[in-house]
Amino acid sequence: MEIGTPLSPTATRVMLLGSGELGKEVVIALQRLGVEVVAVDRYPDAPGHQVAHRAHVIDMADGRALRELVERERPQLIVPEIEAIATDTLAQIEADGLARVIPTARATQLTMNREGIRRLAAEELGLPTSGYAFADSLEELRAAIDAGIGYPCIVKPVMSSSGKGQSLVNGEAELETAWSCAKSGGRVDRGRVIVEALVRFDYEITLLTVRAPDASGDIRTAFCAPVGHRQQQGDYVESWQPQPMSEAALRSAREMARAVTEKLGGCGLFGVELFVAGDQVWFSEVSPRPHDTGMVTMMTQWQNEFELHARAILGLPVDTSLRNPGASAVIYGGMDARGMRFSGIESALAVPGSELRLFGKPESFPRRRMGVALARGEDIDQARQRASECASRVRPLAP
Ligand SMILES: Nc1ncnc2c1ncn2[C@@H]1O[C@H](COP(=O)(O)OP(=O)(O)OP(=O)(O)O)[C@@H](O)[C@H]1O
Ligand SMILES: [Mg+2]
Repeated sequence: MEIGTPLSPTATRVMLLGSGELGKEVVIALQRLGVEVVAVDRYPDAPGHQVAHRAHVIDMADGRALRELVERERPQLIVPEIEAIATDTLAQIEADGLARVIPTARATQLTMNREGIRRLAAEELGLPTSGYAFADSLEELRAAIDAGIGYPCIVKPVMSSSGKGQSLVNGEAELETAWSCAKSGGRVDRGRVIVEALVRFDYEITLLTVRAPDASGDIRTAFCAPVGHRQQQGDYVESWQPQPMSEAALRSAREMARAVTEKLGGCGLFGVELFVAGDQVWFSEVSPRPHDTGMVTMMTQWQNEFELHARAILGLPVDTSLRNPGASAVIYGGMDARGMRFSGIESALAVPGSELRLFGKPESFPRRRMGVALARGEDIDQARQRASECASRVRPLAP
């Protein structure tokens, strides 16, 4: 394994597809290792753009534009940070030997569509999941629910993230609204949805799972301590680590995470989302990249999830051990504005054991994630209290 000199003919060059707050941290981790980083996003001055060697603005769902940029920049590695990418183009790029796609082009194809990953997990691997069905029309949806899914259930576009287009349906009367919400909230307007039975879990976790080569070059799977989190409208608002779990639940969680990441293949960090009730665990979904709830690891681990991803994709050794308990709490924009300001930072950072990340997004929306408060603690209760206190002291101001 060698790393060259950035901005020279020997450079080790990585292209990030998606340069939000998660991409920004991956860029920083790669920069620290002397990697040349090219950051791509759909809008200018995205968080990752601001810390990369070069920044590009393209529509990443446009296969031709993507191919053209890859041929121009010639990265050795392509690191997707988002799902909405022309993944067929990535597959072609990989097949042509132009660049390596992280973790693999097939993994990006399977996980960008809920149907691909759900069928793989439940039908190929036999992992326990919620009951589910797919539907292309309101009639099919109703029939699938009546045939066994039942109420309450959750309707989601097959292509969407961050809870977009998703709704909880308590009964027949709410079905039509859920269908139109899914149709308009999905990434492509094909209108295909997944309907899932509601899992009555005690808590949910993200099991950050790393596939990286060991000293002899064999790929090993390593697990971070489970990250617990709380979601609101399908979007994470708070996370903490380590989430206490029974031995049996932790064992099943790791077995499932190992199975699904092995199947996806390649090297890198994955965020495996699981529901837990007692000793019972259900697989929900997986991101073949750092996970938003894993931002907490910037406060809790010797190597955070972004450093782990950077190391794993470069073929370097990883250490997933926990340093101390900690928590994260999301800071929202709270307004529609360009160039907003934040006040109360001095008061926020006066909370013991706290840190802040402000992402530097040029434009704010009321529910847009603009920053995150992090805190360490004696235990997760103290850390959670500190992180939410820190976040609540940050006051968004109009420009
Ligand atoms: N079948 C289910 N039973 C119970 N809760 C569910 C179910 N499906 C989703 N949820 C809840 O909704 C949240 C978001 O669902 P999911 O992860 O499928 O959507 P998403 O849009 O991919 O979100 P993200 O991109 O933020 O991970 C879950 O973390 C969980 O809290
Ligand atoms: Mg999710």
